[in-house]
Amino acid sequence: MKSYDFGIVGLGVMGRNLLLNMADNNFAVAGLDLDAAKAESLEKEAAEGQDVKATTQAQEFVSLIRKPRAIMLLVPAGKPVDSAIGSLLPFLEEGDIVIDGGNSYFPDTDRRVAELAEKNIHFFGMGISGGEKGARFGPSMMPGGDQNAYERLRPIFEAIAAKVNGEPCVTYLGSGSAGNYVKMVHNGIEYGIMQLISEVYDLMKRGYGISDEKIQQTFADWNQTELQSFLIEITGIVLNKFDEETGERLVNKISDWAKAKGTGKWTSQNAMDLQAPIPVIDAAVTMRDMSKYKPERIEAAKELTWTATGGEISEEQLIEELRQAFYFAMITIYAQGLAQLTIASKTYNYGLNLEQVAKIWRGGCIIRAVVLEDFRQAYVRNPELPNILLDNEIGGKLVSKQTNIRTVIKLAVDKGIPVAAFMNSLAYFDAYRSERLATNLIQAQRDYFGAHTYERTDREGTFHTHWD
Ligand code: 6PG
Repeated sequence: MKSYDFGIVGLGVMGRNLLLNMADNNFAVAGLDLDAAKAESLEKEAAEGQDVKATTQAQEFVSLIRKPRAIMLLVPAGKPVDSAIGSLLPFLEEGDIVIDGGNSYFPDTDRRVAELAEKNIHFFGMGISGGEKGARFGPSMMPGGDQNAYERLRPIFEAIAAKVNGEPCVTYLGSGSAGNYVKMVHNGIEYGIMQLISEVYDLMKRGYGISDEKIQQTFADWNQTELQSFLIEITGIVLNKFDEETGERLVNKISDWAKAKGTGKWTSQNAMDLQAPIPVIDAAVTMRDMSKYKPERIEAAKELTWTATGGEISEEQLIEELRQAFYFAMITIYAQGLAQLTIASKTYNYGLNLEQVAKIWRGGCIIRAVVLEDFRQAYVRNPELPNILLDNEIGGKLVSKQTNIRTVIKLAVDKGIPVAAFMNSLAYFDAYRSERLATNLIQAQRDYFGAHTYERTDREGTFHTHWD
């Protein structure tokens, strides 16, 4: 019987696109889906001469894959992952590898790794970024699990991944849930940058009344600068889409209630647990939440008024200030996410290599950007770098652009435009570069009302004072 190199459970958009990508790269692949129509259509979709087989039967599916088997689940996170594992388990054997390719919550992955390890089956959590197109033509992939078992997966993943300078955007990241964790933080950064872009848009459109055409052109132009990135690029494309029914720009017809599947929230929640400050990502999660309170905002818009002031800046000057400020804030978002990964790696013993993380984010994923190569080089210069802001080259750029972000925030304040991401970016920078923060006062207050004690700057030890 013919044996297949790789199997995928769940032939939705991501599953079928990844399988077809593997088939394009000359791997024999098998798919499982309970929906017979999906299974059938996959075989039809495959090009002539490609080894693609699909079935609705778990037992048959498992028997098709060569040993040790490599099977990826592309089903919604949560219970469906556990049921998919449950349906395969009776037919799996020792040494087989199950990979969860969804956006699973990382503690779930740790639990599954432990459960399957009892049966000597390897479980991988792998973040996959790049959406539909990425899956079909080259995603960025973030696998975590057993390092030896990864060798069975490596040739396939390296073949199908996006490439930057010929190098694949996939690498073994670390043990346990390392892959899901890195993807979670990737999404947190994604939230931060998307929020930042929306603030640029808001200040230009609502604050300064700049035309939609000019705003669209600005993003298209920015993509030819050091801001070049997937999210800036698609913003230029999205702003240029016209609604067929009304003939207006489609974005103007879209409701402002932003939804979220939860990965950004998890990033913030876990950052709080680890005491890893990521204020811009936190602000991005909060602003999506704010967007939900439409009826209250309609009410507040009538009562809580502010008459915009300022405006003594030309359109061209404003756009230039914004461009520089955007660069500044964007760097701080990556800095926060990467610092969180550094802390998480120590806490959870992932053994992450941040240079490799920056490397596989350069292509294929949603947060790909030319600046990722600068970050990679910063980690080459110093693999122990706790925060990329401490790299001389990156830090130097921020120092030179801080006037721009301070200007942008002042302009936004005068216009009454909420720029929470810009503000938190600058506050983070100003706090990070403060040798002495005002938290000594907080320590004094805590000691006053709760006898929580404090440390002194001039002596060793723990102190408590009777303040009254
Ligand atoms: C990716 C995306 C992908 C998904 C987000 C959307 O890397 O390809 O991040 O995973 O589109 O999870 O997240 P929200 O629905 O929370 O915005």
